[in-house]
Amino acid sequence: MISRKTTLSKKYTDVERLVCHSKTSLMMGVKDPKTGRSLVAKCILLLPENTHGEKGRQMALRTAAHMDPHWQEVTPRTVEEVMEEAHAMYTLRKCSGAVDLVEVLLEPGSTRVVLVMELLEGGLLSEFMLDHTSGMKEPEVQAAASRLLNVLREAHKTGIAHHDLRPAHVMLTLEGRLDSVKMVDFSKGAGGGVAARPKFDHDAAIATSSQRWYQPPEVAVQESCETSVYAGNMWSFGWMLLAMLTGSEEMFEDPHPPWLVAEPRKLPSGHVQDAWFKMAQRWIDKELKTVLTKLRVHGARKESTDIIQKLLTVDPRDRLTAEGALRHPWFQCTYM
Ligand SMILES: Nc1ncnc2c1ncn2[C@@H]1O[C@H](COP(=O)(O)OP(=O)(O)OP(=O)(O)O)[C@@H](O)[C@H]1O
Ligand SMILES: [Mg+2]
Repeated sequence: MISRKTTLSKKYTDVERLVCHSKTSLMMGVKDPKTGRSLVAKCILLLPENTHGEKGRQMALRTAAHMDPHWQEVTPRTVEEVMEEAHAMYTLRKCSGAVDLVEVLLEPGSTRVVLVMELLEGGLLSEFMLDHTSGMKEPEVQAAASRLLNVLREAHKTGIAHHDLRPAHVMLTLEGRLDSVKMVDFSKGAGGGVAARPKFDHDAAIATSSQRWYQPPEVAVQESCETSVYAGNMWSFGWMLLAMLTGSEEMFEDPHPPWLVAEPRKLPSGHVQDAWFKMAQRWIDKELKTVLTKLRVHGARKESTDIIQKLLTVDPRDRLTAEGALRHPWFQCTYM
């Protein structure tokens, strides 16, 4: 799976930069000359060993600049971070809702790692949502949800979490087909962050963008990472479900979740935190009531609104797990 002897341009043909936004990689479209299969190569610049921080970044960029000027916009990552992402992709590659990793190229000189994977041609779920602002059909959402949950169940069972789950990290394999979704980007982002902690933060840009809804409340208020990052994935997944069914990410009357209104504050665990969870739950119950009632009026099954409530549970200890979600009665509902 890991090849150390060759480079992307030696092994593949038609190497061409794809125009898509990325902070830590250059995405290339390539062709396997043996099979004729079109693939995607996620090219990641490595920090030199033992030289991290700004100095390491400058060194890495200097070596890469002659290859492609676009490297100047990219943040290099450590080899350990990239290998962790490759490991997650390799473990999950056989799940129908995860992208198939073809191989990993650790290019000679160790300046770059390339993750070669299947090409997903249907675009991002976030783009698909822009064309479906009055909501997506429930049977299709159910099919998409089941694929994504199977990935989350397998990931969580094997100690893997997604670190930034939202519609910009879900792609459609086939254009227009929500039932062909696949989860992408199992990276922790540049710099690694605290182990097992999601990438989400209190960044001002995130706090005002629709991205904020996918951030689990406990990330904003917990002193340390006591509850699992797996529960955090389930919150993000719950939001994706709600966004797909309603066709909107801004459906609440009050656009300011209580966990983002103030400066980040870390609550000690114990009863102070429990009381905070209860207060935040009251807030979300009130907002959800209006939205879910509207969905029901438009024909949503009670099982679909019930699973959303069980996923959007503020206290992560009470939130539905991936295993539990797959056993939820919604997945027994059939549609004509
Ligand atoms: N298998 C794929 N097929 C087609 N396009 C893809 C594939 N994987 C990723 N992309 C495109 O490349 C973009 C960046 O991918 P990804 O999120 O994995 O990279 P990244 O370096 O982590 O980016 P960022 O740091 O901005 O999240 C995606 O938003 C998507 O548009
Ligand atoms: Mg990404």
